[in-house]
Amino acid sequence: MESTHACYFLQFLCIILVLVTFPSMLPTTLASDFSIKEATIQDLQLAFKRNQLTSRQLVEFYLNQIKIQNPVLKGVLEVNPDALAHADRADHERRTKAPGSLSGLHGIPILVKDNTATKDKLNTTAGSFALLGSVVPRDAGVVTKLREAGAIILGKATLSEWSHYRSNEAPNGWSARGGQGKNPYTLDEPCGSSSGSAISVAANLVSVSLGTETDGSILCPSSFNSVVGIKPTVGLTSRAGVVPISPRQDTVGPICRTVSDAAYVLETIAGIDTYDNATIEASKYIPKGGYAQFLKKDGLRGKRLGVVRQFYEFGGDTLLDETFKLHLKTLRQRGAILVDNLKIDNELIGDQSEEIALNFEFKLSLNAYLKDLVTSPVKSLADVIAFNKKHPKLEKIEYGQDLMLQAEKTNGIGKSEKQALLNMTRSSQNGFEKLMKRNKLDAVVTPFSSFSSILAIGGYPGVNVPAGYEKGVPFGICFGGLKGSEPKLIEIAYSFEQATLIRKPPPLRKLEV
Ligand SMILES: *[C@@H]1O[C@H](CO)[C@@H](O)[C@H](O)[C@H]1NC(C)=O
Ligand SMILES: *[C@@H]1O[C@H](CO)[C@@H](O)[C@H](O)[C@H]1NC(C)=O
Ligand SMILES: *[C@@H]1O[C@H](CO)[C@@H](O)[C@H](O)[C@H]1NC(C)=O
Repeated sequence: MESTHACYFLQFLCIILVLVTFPSMLPTTLASDFSIKEATIQDLQLAFKRNQLTSRQLVEFYLNQIKIQNPVLKGVLEVNPDALAHADRADHERRTKAPGSLSGLHGIPILVKDNTATKDKLNTTAGSFALLGSVVPRDAGVVTKLREAGAIILGKATLSEWSHYRSNEAPNGWSARGGQGKNPYTLDEPCGSSSGSAISVAANLVSVSLGTETDGSILCPSSFNSVVGIKPTVGLTSRAGVVPISPRQDTVGPICRTVSDAAYVLETIAGIDTYDNATIEASKYIPKGGYAQFLKKDGLRGKRLGVVRQFYEFGGDTLLDETFKLHLKTLRQRGAILVDNLKIDNELIGDQSEEIALNFEFKLSLNAYLKDLVTSPVKSLADVIAFNKKHPKLEKIEYGQDLMLQAEKTNGIGKSEKQALLNMTRSSQNGFEKLMKRNKLDAVVTPFSSFSSILAIGGYPGVNVPAGYEKGVPFGICFGGLKGSEPKLIEIAYSFEQATLIRKPPPLRKLEV
C-alpha cells in the first residue's frame, strides 16, 4: 500500500519538479543525464568538465529553488546580488585556466550563516535588526578562504537569532530578520542555531553551506534535517569575523548533504588566519594533502568505537532503539571494534560551569566584535539589549532576552569564572580524554547530537551523518573524537554513510505561501 502511494507520489513530484525548476533554464537545457538535485561537489565538477553544466546554470537553478521553496522554509536570509556575476567569472576561469589548476570548490555555490561576515552587498546581522546597517571591516577568515578557492557566496543562511544567545525562550530557527526556519521534512522543528544552513542544503537550495557551533549548533540541525555536519576542533577553522559567543567553544564547519562534500569544504576553510591566533596552534592537526584522502569506503576497518550507553536514551521508542542496534551491527560488520557499555564520568552534570563561562565570554567577545565594525547601530551588548527594548515588535520582545541580560551582568574573569573554566578543563580531562585513551578509542558513537555538550566544552570535533527517519522525522548518528581527529572521523563517517546510504531528499510539497 504505502509503496504504491510512494510511486505515484514520486511521479507527481517529478512532474512538479520539472515544471517548477526548468522554465528559466529553457535556453540552456542541461544534458539529460545530469541532475543538479542531490549532486555532490564531485558530480558538479565532473559536469562542468564535460560541458554538461555551467556555474551560471547552477546558480540559476538554486535562485529559482529559493524563490519557490524559501517563502515557506525560510532557510535563506539574503541572496547575493552578485552571485550570477561571480558564476560567470567562474565559468570564464574554467574556460581559460589550465585544467587541474582550480580548487574542488571552484564555481560551487555556498551559503554562509548570517553571523559570518562578508565584505560585499550582503548584510551580516546574526538575524537581528540591531546589526542591520552595520559595516564589517573585512570578510570572515573562512569567507576569505572560500573566495580564494573560487567558491560562489550565494547568500546568507538564517539561524536562531544571535546563535541562540539572546534568550532561552526563542524558538529554534527563529530570528527577527529571517522569520521561522522550517525543517523541510516536517515543516516543523529544524533545531538550531545553524538552522538555515541545514534546511537549505537539505532542500537543495544550495550545494553546500557553513554553520557555526558553540554547543550543538552544527550537530543538532544536521541531525534534524538529514544532512552531514562537521563540527571541527576549535581553532581548526578561523572564527575571525564571526559574531561570537565564546572563543573557547566557537567553531565554524561545513553542513552538506554528503561526507565527501563536507570533507572538501573543510579542507578549503581550515588553516591559519592571522586574525584568529587559535588557528596557529590548531594548524598542526591539518593533514598534508587535505581531508579528501580519508574518504575511504573501508574506513571503519580496525577502528575502535566507544559506545557510551548514557547517551542512548530513546524514551521507550523501540524503533529508534532497534535502528541504533542495527547501526552498531553495521559498524561491526564493516570492521569496527565496538567497545560497549562505557561510561563517562561527567563531573559537570548539574553544574553551572558552562553557563558561567559562556556568559562572561559572550559579553567580552561580542563587545570586541562590535568594536571592530566600521559602523554599527549598536556598539556593545548593552546597546543590543537597549535596541531590543526599543523595538519590541520588530524584535519580538515576548521571546525575552534573558541570556543577554545575564551576560551583561558579568564583569570579566573573577574567581567564580576561573573556577568554572577550571572545572570544565578538569571534566574534559577526567571524563572524555581519559575514556578515549584508556580504551584506545578512535571515536565515540552516539545517537543524534546527544553528546554535543561534551564535545563543545572540550573543543573536540564531531561529525553527524543521516541515520534514519522515524515517521518522516530525520535523525542522525554522531561520531566524536579527540582534538585533531578529523581524519579518523571522516574515515568512519564516510564508511558508515557509504554502507547505509540513508539520506533521502525531503518530499517536494506544493509549497503554499
Ligand atoms: C541589506 O540590508 C539593506 C537594508 O535593509 C537592504 O536594503 C539590502 O537589500 C540588504 N542586502 C541584501 C543583499 O539583501
Ligand atoms: C596574534 O598574535 C600576535 C603575536 O603574538 C599578536 O601580535 C597579534 O596581535 C595577535 N592577533 C590577534 C588577532 O589576537
Ligand atoms: C566547580 O568545582 C568545585 C569544586 O569541585 C565546586 O565546588 C563548584 O560547585 C563547581 N562549579 C562551579 C561553577 O564552580
